[in-house]
Amino acid sequence: MRLDFTNKNVLVTGASRGIGKAIAEAFSQCGANLILVARNKGRLEVVAQKVKAREFFCADVSSYSEMEEVYSKVKEKYGFLDVVVNNAGISPHFRSFHKTPESDWDEIIGVNLKGVLNNAKLSFELLKKGRDPVLINVASVVGLAGAQKIAVYCATKAAVVNFTKALSIEWASYSIRVVGICPGYVKTDMTKGIFSKDDLRNQLLSMIPMRRFADPPEIANVVLFAASSLASYITGSCIIVDGGLLSGL
Ligand SMILES: NC(=O)c1ccc[n+]([C@@H]2O[C@H](COP(=O)([O-])OP(=O)(O)OC[C@H]3O[C@@H](n4cnc5c(N)ncnc54)[C@H](OP(=O)(O)O)[C@@H]3O)[C@@H](O)[C@H]2O)c1
Repeated sequence: MRLDFTNKNVLVTGASRGIGKAIAEAFSQCGANLILVARNKGRLEVVAQKVKAREFFCADVSSYSEMEEVYSKVKEKYGFLDVVVNNAGISPHFRSFHKTPESDWDEIIGVNLKGVLNNAKLSFELLKKGRDPVLINVASVVGLAGAQKIAVYCATKAAVVNFTKALSIEWASYSIRVVGICPGYVKTDMTKGIFSKDDLRNQLLSMIPMRRFADPPEIANVVLFAASSLASYITGSCIIVDGGLLSGL
């Protein structure tokens, strides 16, 4: 069954590559009016053309003022949003926490946490006017359990998981659902470096019961479900999409 998002206004951040690109493609196949956000104009333009996006904006999600400009243009042109997907994120270099410089903390917290807060705050008025509106936050399984050498990234994703829960309580009274998605390891630019090291790749694969990493559309399909009326009673939850990674010891 193909879900129908015809005439729905859907904004996706981090849509130029990886999971965000797959999310844009999935919504496009379901007829959505897409508005895309990322920093790199060249890459975003290619995706925007491919998915026939209505609009794309080059902006840094960690900058409140840049995102304020994006949302004011969206408000002027579209008036409302039905779905907002907070997907943009960065991963740090693999480093022990005590060797991670403060500048890295600021950058990771800025994009992965403040970026999510910026989009949530700025989309509120537009979602309130949407039809069956949903805010989707892409967190991670490492927001639910720790992982070595990415402690700050883990902290930001745990914050996104709990922000999802807290916001869902406030926004339920406005009939806006707030849903988190917690992917395991997905084949994107973010994980290319990790997967290219045979020992690390094999160690990670041995921890995943399905013995493989996810392809981006396998995450995008769950985002599509979470944003659809099939998920009409889901709010505040984070859906785990990890090939069984968190289920084992
Ligand atoms: N890959 C995994 O295994 C995995 C697992 C769990 C969770 N996740 C999460 O899934 C999300 C997508 O990850 P991915 O693997 O698709 O990563 P990716 O391939 O590195 O893509 C990241 C996307 O975010 C955009 N982006 C980064 N910083 C941004 C900023 N400051 N402002 C606006 N856009 C920004 C990038 O575009 P520009 O560079 O053009 O801005 C790109 O489109 C992230 O939140 C990540 O933490 C990934």
